[in-house]
Amino acid sequence: MADDPFTLFDAWYAEARESEINDSNAMALATADAAGRPSVRMVLLKGHGSDGFVFYTNREGRKAADLAANPHAALLFHWKSLRRQVRIEGAVTLATDAESDAYFASRSRDSQLGAWASDQSRPLDSRETFEARVDAAKAQFEGRDVPRPLHWGGYRVTPHVIEFWQDRAHRLHERRLFTRDGDGWREGLLFP
Ligand SMILES: Cc1cc2nc3c(=O)[nH]c(=O)nc-3n(C[C@H](O)[C@H](O)[C@H](O)COP(=O)(O)O)c2cc1C
Repeated sequence: MADDPFTLFDAWYAEARESEINDSNAMALATADAAGRPSVRMVLLKGHGSDGFVFYTNREGRKAADLAANPHAALLFHWKSLRRQVRIEGAVTLATDAESDAYFASRSRDSQLGAWASDQSRPLDSRETFEARVDAAKAQFEGRDVPRPLHWGGYRVTPHVIEFWQDRAHRLHERRLFTRDGDGWREGLLFP
């Protein structure tokens, strides 16, 4: 048995990348506002390691406001083809500027321009308004690299709990619950 959850996550994630038809890196991200009201949406996992799980987003939208008020989140992967889920809970910090810059630079130019045009903090009146904002960004950065907008960047969820759920025959599903314990992890099995 893997004795740390990151090794097990790597193994399951590698299998999911092979078997899912698309977006094996898609995960639900749950946040809560200052009053404890929850909200959830999908984001894409763009980096992970023993320091946590990283996604990128507009830092002016609802999830960003929630995380500013309450820097804790839960993540959920559901890999249907494997009949598995992974639940992650932890504290949230901003990814470093260097990390966000590097990831932004790796995106397509259209995505980069879209980040400048996006405004997740309030509804735009129409698709045309958004397209006009994309055109304005195109004109602004013509002939040069598109820099990362300051309102766009990464967040890292550093887990204190990770639970792996595996479908088993006859509904005897297996759950492996890893809980952070000092520098290491404590593991328990839960049924079903
Ligand atoms: C499969 C999938 C992946 C998504 N990935 C991201 C992502 O990585 N970053 C992001 O900001 N929004 C992503 N979205 C859009 C979000 O779900 C959400 O609509 C948007 O970020 C606004 O969320 P908020 O209002 O809670 O801030 C994704 C949506 C789907 C369906």
